[in-house]
Amino acid sequence: NKTFDYLIVGSGLFGATFAHQATQRGFSCLVIDKRSELGGNLRCELVEGINVHQYGAHIFHTSDKAVWDYVNSIVPFNRYTNSPVANYKGRLYNLPFNMNTFYQMWGTVTPDAAMQKIEEQRKEAVEAMRKAGVAEPRNLEEQALTLVGRDIYETLIKDYTQKQWGRKCSELPAFIIKRLPVRLTFDNNYFNDAFQGIPIGGYNLLINGMLKDAECLTQTDFFQFSRSYDETDDCHVLTDGEKEIRCKKIVFTGKIDEFYNYEYGKLNYRTVRFEHTILNTSNHQGNAVVNYTDAETPYTRVIEHKHFESFGDDVYKNPRTVISREYSTEWTDGMEPYYPVNDETNNRISEKYRERGAQEKNVIFGGRLAEYKYYDMAPIIQKVLQMWE
Ligand code: FDA
Repeated sequence: NKTFDYLIVGSGLFGATFAHQATQRGFSCLVIDKRSELGGNLRCELVEGINVHQYGAHIFHTSDKAVWDYVNSIVPFNRYTNSPVANYKGRLYNLPFNMNTFYQMWGTVTPDAAMQKIEEQRKEAVEAMRKAGVAEPRNLEEQALTLVGRDIYETLIKDYTQKQWGRKCSELPAFIIKRLPVRLTFDNNYFNDAFQGIPIGGYNLLINGMLKDAECLTQTDFFQFSRSYDETDDCHVLTDGEKEIRCKKIVFTGKIDEFYNYEYGKLNYRTVRFEHTILNTSNHQGNAVVNYTDAETPYTRVIEHKHFESFGDDVYKNPRTVISREYSTEWTDGMEPYYPVNDETNNRISEKYRERGAQEKNVIFGGRLAEYKYYDMAPIIQKVLQMWE
């Protein structure tokens, strides 16, 4: 029976990048995933000839040239630039907050006029707090009001944030919003990074390229095996009655609390429910991402997937389109755990698991579930590349 150098649990971006780095250096890897498809949250499904991001829209962005060159060496990326639009009660505003937004909101034409408007409203907020005897913003609402003033807060932040967190902004901690950058230029590019885009042909090509030299098993849950350690061969042995897997090291990218059978308690998450719909039109909203920032609309965003990969008139080559409405919800067992809730209780519990994990022999914990930390894609790759350096 073969002993793998690495058993990688999870074929998401962390597991796939790790497998790629290892196999390129001649190490043998077995990647297992409990889902029926590889790729974790990057996985796309081809529907009506369009790559539909099954687990939420994924836009790659980085300022790290090495990371950008690395992903492009596996699959070239296109020129997609994220420029989301906000819909508030049927009126549209460009994001992130910039001269276009201010023109749409107030009709201001010059940077000075826009700045003056923002400053006026910020001062009003600070003054109101001073009158109430409040020195520092006590919650997210006060924080946002003092950073950008009432109009931007009420139109573009308040209801959207409440839908995302399922709680009023006045009941959310101020630290969630540290900065709210305003741009006094007509620049709708959401990211400040030097590089952004989507793999040409979709994310599955990136994952497949990374995993090309690894052995992969889907519909295989790590927890279906019982695990022991063979001290003579210095390797882990996993058995489920049918299969036996032997490996020198385990790279675990699943939930860390599950790894320890929830001994210190269950970690909590926010999740998103996606409602995917095929429409008989070429172009539904003219943009990949539209945020619904009012309270009346129950969903937070509508994603129109074709705009990630086709531009200009090419959009009309396909008579259909696929959209996903996103509903932010509380997480319970059986749902996809998307966003860690890094409040005091959860941080305390995850720290305990982390300390325990650090003592494990020949087990590496990595990725968003094992570290209980939100990561964008580029930092995940950066981390794995650094581990191998
Ligand atoms: P990921 O969750 O992708 O992979 C873990 C894998 O492990 C899964 O395939 C799972 O099935 C498997 N697994 C878990 N337990 C297992 C077990 N017991 N046995 C076997 N397999 C098991 N980033 C960005 O840069 N730009 C963006 O636009 C977005 N957008 C975005 C939207 C949403 C809704 C979310 C939640 C996240 C993003 N991200 C993002 C972040 C991005 O998704 C993230 O960086 C990567 O998915 C992290 O990859 P991981 O491998 O850590 O986790």
